[in-house]
Formats: sequence, structure tokens, C-alpha cells
Amino acid sequence: MGEVLFLNGEIMPLSEGKVSVEDRGFLFADGIYEVIRNYKGRPFTLEEHLERLERSAAGLMLELPYSREELKAICLDLLKRSGLEDSYFYIEVTRGAARRTHPFPEQARPTVVVFIRAMATPDPKIRREGVKVITLPDERWACCHLKTVSLLPNVLASEKARRAGAMEALLYSPERILYEGSSSNAYLIEDNTLHTHPLTNKVLPGITRQVVLEVAGQIGLQVMEEPRTVEDFKAADEVFITSCTREIYPVVQMDDAKIAGGKVGPWVQKLHAAFLERVAAECGLASAY
Ligand code: PDD
Repeated sequence: MGEVLFLNGEIMPLSEGKVSVEDRGFLFADGIYEVIRNYKGRPFTLEEHLERLERSAAGLMLELPYSREELKAICLDLLKRSGLEDSYFYIEVTRGAARRTHPFPEQARPTVVVFIRAMATPDPKIRREGVKVITLPDERWACCHLKTVSLLPNVLASEKARRAGAMEALLYSPERILYEGSSSNAYLIEDNTLHTHPLTNKVLPGITRQVVLEVAGQIGLQVMEEPRTVEDFKAADEVFITSCTREIYPVVQMDDAKIAGGKVGPWVQKLHAAFLERVAAECGLASAY
């Protein structure tokens, strides 16, 4: 069936889905979301993503109309119907459609959207050659640990990166502490130790981050979750970003600064290989790709 949509209990081709103009997701960005990767038709870390969705819902005082088991069943049903292999799920839950008022309306029932879309595995050239990123002041709000669809500062930062010929924008505080990317977590490696920002309100607790930190320990990288500056990143041995769609992208240039002479470093390569082994093991596959 290809790209399939679950919309409030109904199943249809993705192109046929319609939501009210009074939906609070549309009017107020009053909603949450998740993106979950499927490898060869097997979901990776579905449970962890659904758990984060529940935390985001709680943060918005939004009651999810489906249990974790029900959402899992919806995802698996879409996977089966779609026949798609390398793909991702997009889940969004908004506070629903109701007459426009800032406080929560009593009548609204949450809108639940789950769809599955095909996705090509990332270009291997990116792993070999790395990517360029830019750095920008963080203009987001104080609850970046919640995965909400209120993404305008992220969207603007991402567009500025694109216009600068970069893959991602990394966001920093007034003190030049580097938090994360517009849609990724960010890491540096120095002296065989991996550093990334601790899980505070300024960082999304990335599911890929969680896996990468576990895998790092297994391959002998020490892990330190502590704030580091933009300048620390630029002077590091290696830098990389992660998200469920990108997995691990080596960064070889930040603004005008080349990282480690502009070459992809050995730790990032090892980490990505170990990450793919972990994906294969967890998904019950001989190999992830
Ligand atoms: N973005 N930080 C931000 C701000 C993000 O939006 C994302 C993911 C991440 C990485 O999280 P994870 O490893 O769980 O994918 C970090 C998704 C992919 C998106 O918005 O499309």
C-alpha cells in the first residue's frame, strides 16, 4: 500500500489525510511528535520513542488517548500494510480541534496522526567525508527536553544552515555553551573521551544519544556529560551529530574552522560501525543496511 496514515482511528493513504483548520496543532503548535526509524521493516527503539512521547505529553498536560501498547500496535499495523522496509514512522498528537481560545478547551479530543514513509539509507559519502555545520545563538524556549511541534526557531536555524551550505546548525547559549543541533544532538571527542551536554531543559534526550552513549562505553570511549563551549568543539579531535534518521554524522567543519584538519576521525567511524551492529542485533537482522 506504500505510505499509509492512521488518523484518529482511520487508515488511509497518507496523501488523503485531512485535519481541521481549528486543530490546535495548526493554531498554536499545541502538540508533540516522534520520529522512529525502521530498518528492513523492523522498528528500532520503538519502545523508547513511545516512552519519550508519553513524557512530552505529560509536559504539555496532554492526555494521550492511546496506551503505549495501542500505539505500538498501530505502528506495527502500518508497517505491515505499507510493505515498506527502510522507512520511518512519524507520530503527532495535538490537543485537537476546538473553537480558538488560549486555555485548553474542554470539548477538544486529541488528534492522533501516525504515518509511515519510505526513507533511503543515508549516503555513505557523508560517513566518509563528513559534513559542515554552522553555529547560531539558541533562540528556543525553556522546555527543549519536550519534543513539541513548536519548532519555528529550529526551522529558522536549519534554513540558515542550508543557505550557508551546511547540514546543520548547532545552537549555543549566551555563554557560548553548545547545547545541540536544530534537529540533532552534538558531541565532541578529545583525549579518547566523548563529551556531550547533560540532559537538561535545553537539550532533547535523543534516543540515538542514549544508544550512542551505551555503544561508546562498549568500544572503550569514556563518556562525560558536561557543558562545553563552541570553542571547545572547534578545537576537538572529532565532532559529530546524531539523530534517528541520520544515525551518526561526522562533522569536519564548524563555521570556518576545520575539525581535525577536515578529515573524519577514527572514533566516529568505530562508533558508527558499533552503532549499526547494535541496530542489527536489536532488530534481529544480519546487518542494518
Ligand atoms: N529530530 N535534538 C533535536 C532538537 C531533535 O529535533 C532531534 C530529532 C534530536 C535527536 O533525537 P533522536 O535521536 O531521538 O532522533 C535531538 C527528529 C529526527 C526530527 O525532528 O525530525
